[in-house]
Parts: sequence; C-alpha cells; structure tokens
Amino acid sequence: MTTRSRIIGCGSYLPANVVTNDDLAKRVDTSDEWIVARTGIRQRHIAAEGETTSDLAFEAAKKAMEHAGVTSEDIDLIIVATATPDNTFPATATKVQNRLGVKGFAFDVQAVCSGFIYALTTADMYIRNGQAKTALVIGAETFSRILDWEDRRTCVLFGDGAGAVVLQGVEGNGTMEDVGILANRLHSDGSKYELLYVDGGPSSTQTVGHLRMEGQEVFRHAVTNLAGVIREVLADTGLEPTDIDWLVPHQANQRILDSTARKFGISKDKVVVTVDRHANTSAASIPLALAEAVHDGRVQRGDIVVLEAMGGGFTWGASLVRW
Ligand code: ACO
Repeated sequence: MTTRSRIIGCGSYLPANVVTNDDLAKRVDTSDEWIVARTGIRQRHIAAEGETTSDLAFEAAKKAMEHAGVTSEDIDLIIVATATPDNTFPATATKVQNRLGVKGFAFDVQAVCSGFIYALTTADMYIRNGQAKTALVIGAETFSRILDWEDRRTCVLFGDGAGAVVLQGVEGNGTMEDVGILANRLHSDGSKYELLYVDGGPSSTQTVGHLRMEGQEVFRHAVTNLAGVIREVLADTGLEPTDIDWLVPHQANQRILDSTARKFGISKDKVVVTVDRHANTSAASIPLALAEAVHDGRVQRGDIVVLEAMGGGFTWGASLVRW
C-alpha cells in the first residue's frame, strides 16, 4: 500500500473590486486593444484598502474546507504560497491558522508564480511520509501592492485573489491507476533572477519594492520550461499528452497558454482559462482556475489533471493528478 494525497475540496476568493482595461487606460498610456491582443486579459480584481493576503487566503480556505466537508480539527498542516505576505514575518499561514482555529503547523512557501506547485509538492511529501493527514494548501496574493502603477509594461498584467485546496492522505496501490497526486517536478534557476524580480526587500533596501520584468525574455523561457516540465511528469507516470483531460496552467498570458497547449496537441477546450477575468494572480492563479473547473463540473473523478507554473527566480514546476 502507498499513501497518496488526494484533493478533496477546492475554494477560491476574489476581491469585489473589478478593474477593467479601460479603467487602467485612464491611469497609464495603454488601451484595452493592446492588453487583450498581447495578453488576453480583460479585467482583474484588486483588494480593497486594508484587505490583506491573509484575508483573501482565509476566505478561500473556508470555502475549500466546506467543499471538502472537513472542519478545523481535521486540518494538521497549512501551507500558504505567497510573494505578498501581510508582514515580513510571521508567516501569513500562521495568521490563517489562527483565524481558522487550526492546531498543527503552518508556514509560507515563496516561489512567486510557481508557489502553488511548490506548496502542493511540499504538502504531498508531508502527507506521504505520515507527518500530516489533511492539509490546506493555499495560493494567495495581493500583487497590486507591489506594482509600479506608473509602469504600463507591468501594471496591466496582474491581479489579486486566493485559491485553496484540501489535500488528504488516502491508501493507494502504488500504481498509476491510483487517485491523487501521481507526480511532481520542481525546478529553479537563480541565474535568471534579474528578468523578473522585486526591487526591494527587508535585507536589501528596507522597502517593499516594485515588480520589474523583462517581458519578452520571461515569455521565451516560460514556453520552453513549461513544455519541459510537463514532459517530465508525463514520463514519470508513463502517460501521453492525449491522456490529459485538463490542463490547469498558471494564468500569466493567453499566448503562453496557447503555445503550451499547441506544443502538446492539447485542444483549447481542455485548457482551463481564467486569465481573461483574473489577470495574473501569481501563486493564486492555479487554485483559482482549478476551483472554477471543479465547481462548474468540468473536472470529474478519474480525470487526469496537469497543473503547471513558472515564475520569478526563475522557478517552475508541474503536478500530475488523477482526480
Ligand atoms: N500598453 C501599450 N503599450 C505597451 C504596454 C501597454 N500596457 N506595455 C508595453 N507597451 C509597448 C512597449 O513600450 C513597446 O513599445 P515600443 O515598441 O514603442 O518600444 C511595445 O508595446 C512592445 O513592447 P514589448 O515589451 O515588446 O511587448 P510584448 O509583445 O513582448 O508584450 C508582454 C509584453 C505582454 C509583457 C509579454 O512580453 C509577456 O506576456 N511576457 C510574459 C511575461 C509574463 O507573463 N510575466 C508574468 C510573470 S512570469 C509568469 O507568470 C510566467
């Protein structure tokens, strides 16, 4: 027998305030036409004044727990993936833990847009080695707080939000017929940090800083790295691209999603897309998209679901799940 981590519930939360491309065109020299053509983004949600990453995470977590039918007493691990924590310390996860009344242990994972894959992989390992039975894995971000709202090259691309899953250990046979997470792969390459980074931090500038990005370079690496890591999880499980029922990618740019799907011959209707409505919500984007596709009935038990992401660092990774 082998312990597998199964996703038994999903939840998400988006701040009420919706900002359209036309709204942004009043602040910076841009247009709805440019943003839609280059990115597919039509709008994004922006957190209200005083609304923090832990607030968003808490709301998404409550919904995921309700969907899973578990209570605070059942949860023994919380991991929050975020690059926009409420405070430098303590971990945002401990704030969520306190509000939910969960015992056990809680910590944050920082891998920017790949954060959810890193957090899911980490929780999977704790479950498989028996240190946790039921985990909350949350991606939550308030990227609006680290954007340079004068920089049209970056401020149009991002939004705020949170998504969460409840992961629970189940017994499997150790074969690829099991349900749950069947493969995870993570990568990073610190030599590329200047292509996508925040120009501040407690130890360097004692400021929060703003996001800086070389968009075309990031695009180029994203397409290559994502294709590579999807191939790895397919090889790990002996599956083919045609076995994928749902691709749930990190939502950065419609052109990256199209290009990745094209590379594997995956039809567009098997790719879960939210970037048009949410923009890039960094670590929150995969669980937000997953929650949507699970709650509207697209993802069904038994489906093969591939989650993948790439972000600052660079970091990238993928998980393959039998639902
Ligand atoms: N509105 C209007 N014009 C703009 C805007 C804007 N918001 N932003 C840039 N421009 C202009 C530029 O100034 C430039 O003008 P110029 O030719 O007069 O100098 C022109 O548009 C083209 O700029 P590029 O940067 O070459 O535009 P590109 O086609 O590369 O698109 C984009 C930019 C959308 C950022 C693209 O490179 C991209 O999507 N990259 C991926 C980055 C990404 O997704 N990052 C997210 C984090 S990492 C991740 O999640 C994978």
